Amino acid sequence: MNNRHSIGLCHQSLSLRRGSSTVCDGIGTDIVPVARVEALVQQRGTTFLERWFTRGEISYCYTKAHPARHLAARLAAKESVLKALGWSWDGPVPWRSVEVLHDERGAPTVRLHGPIADAAAEARVSVIRISLSHCDEFATAVATVAVAGA
Ligand SMILES: CC(C)(COP(=O)(O)OP(=O)(O)OC[C@H]1O[C@@H](n2cnc3c(N)ncnc32)[C@H](O)[C@@H]1OP(=O)(O)O)[C@@H](O)C(=O)NCCC(=O)NCCS
Repeated sequence: MNNRHSIGLCHQSLSLRRGSSTVCDGIGTDIVPVARVEALVQQRGTTFLERWFTRGEISYCYTKAHPARHLAARLAAKESVLKALGWSWDGPVPWRSVEVLHDERGAPTVRLHGPIADAAAEARVSVIRISLSHCDEFATAVATVAVAGA
């Protein structure tokens, strides 16, 4: 089956690519004020950054004109993914174990590490999708989770 569809938009041809069809078994969202992240960076610097973000995430955000917006979006993404997974977590959440990466089009993707990755594999999580958005004031994220054979 052809999973590409073309529509006209603003006099341009926009190619929409559908991923393989998956059932959404979990959804999560979060919103983070950008000013709160700016304040944490100013007050705690690398202690804050290294607790929450991987090196790759920090590098990506600091290539941008407004790093705090992108950092805030990643905080929202991490929270969203945990909500979508629907797990309670004993002890401090290993936030760097939920890493936001990008595909070749710039769309955000998620990679899990460590115990969270192990738990996801055991729960047969097959796909995690996220979408991010940010403005001067807020960053938001939505995450969905699909489970194989659910
Ligand atoms: C994706 C896009 C629409 C984002 O819109 P925006 O209003 O400028 O910015 P938002 O705050 O809503 O979203 C930014 C986030 O979009 C995400 N994003 C970037 N490219 C994306 C893509 N191709 N698909 C999905 N999400 C994308 C990123 O996560 C980005 O945040 P990050 O840099 O912190 O990771 C814009 O970057 C864009 O147009 N990219 C080109 C995609 C394209 O082919 N457009 C053609 C339209 S005719």
